[in-house]
Amino acid sequence: MSHLSTVFVTGGAGYIGSHCIVELLSAGYEVVVVDNFVNSVNGPDGESVALKRVEAITGKTVTFYECDLLDKTALENIFAKHKIDCVIHFAAIKSVGESMEYPLLYYKNNLIGMLNLLEIMEQFGCFQLVFSSSCTVYGEPNFLPITETHSVGHNITNVYGKTKYFIEEMLEDITHANKKWNIIALRYFNPLGAHPSGLIGEDPIKPFANIMPLISQVAIGHLPILTIFGGDYSTPDGTGIRDYIHVMDLASGHVAALNMLQKSHQNYKVYNLGTGQGVSVLQLVKTFERVTGTAIPYKIVERREGDISVMYANAELAERELEWKSKHSLEEMCVDFWRWQTMNPDGYRTKSTKMTNGHR
Ligand code: UFG
Repeated sequence: MSHLSTVFVTGGAGYIGSHCIVELLSAGYEVVVVDNFVNSVNGPDGESVALKRVEAITGKTVTFYECDLLDKTALENIFAKHKIDCVIHFAAIKSVGESMEYPLLYYKNNLIGMLNLLEIMEQFGCFQLVFSSSCTVYGEPNFLPITETHSVGHNITNVYGKTKYFIEEMLEDITHANKKWNIIALRYFNPLGAHPSGLIGEDPIKPFANIMPLISQVAIGHLPILTIFGGDYSTPDGTGIRDYIHVMDLASGHVAALNMLQKSHQNYKVYNLGTGQGVSVLQLVKTFERVTGTAIPYKIVERREGDISVMYANAELAERELEWKSKHSLEEMCVDFWRWQTMNPDGYRTKSTKMTNGHR
């Protein structure tokens, strides 16, 4: 990097955002972060508890603003205060199940948030963007491992996934209209794990949680039993298969994407961020039990609506072009998550953290 670039990170107090900021700071970037605490925890003075810990891990400073992307004026004021070189846009609501119950909330939050951000970026002459997309844009796969050339937008099984797909389309359109845009969309597979310090991790505050926090909640005794959705898929053990990727690998993928944008003009590019390995729910549970020495009682119930049976990445394009490859094993994902869970049995929440979260 020729100079210290300033990265504007939206949704930076969240799970993936906070881990990514550790990697950005370590790579020499400066960060200006916004979050509306809709799915992250704030402390007594309106600070982000996770980002205070990021500062402790890195020994660097994080400039933070509580800001909702639907508030365009607030966004504009922040851009007016800082010289922003590039943007990583994490801020979105992301629960598959919740999106089916509250489609308008999802369309409004995710699409208008993105539109406001793009307009403000244009207004301030900032055209470099890394966007958090998802492998859910592929819908039910026609072939595996899935490559970036797989069709998108067909048979997407949930509203959340559609918001990601619509945004990808928007991004492609604006790059056609204005060649100044330099955008990479990263299609994440299933992030797991935590920073190895155990200081930051995933702390879902909504009732719609992903698999790893639920396994861990059972292991620590906060939940009696894990419910496995579907035991009759056409997979070796009958349970669904996903490509689980360590959140620190996902974080380094963002730094690789940002480095690429700084180095050369991409116009609009899309990359899978996965490991290329398919792992079943039962394999994940067994691995977690083995490496943490815990027992996870489970029951297998019927399939969850909207679930895809098998999904895993071909991640060779990112390896070739971004010079990025996932490094961490499934075992490390489990060990690191468990360290975070045992060091923080109640996540980021203590008596002094105030909760303002919920639907907006
Ligand atoms: N699962 C269970 N029991 C649970 C929760 C999940 O068996 O209580 C299973 C699911 O059926 C699935 C696997 O665990 O087979 C992973 O489920 P998650 O809910 O953790 O993740 P999803 O694959 O459904 O969704 C995740 C992200 C989305 C993203 C999607 C892309 O949450 O944001 O991956 O595939 F879009």
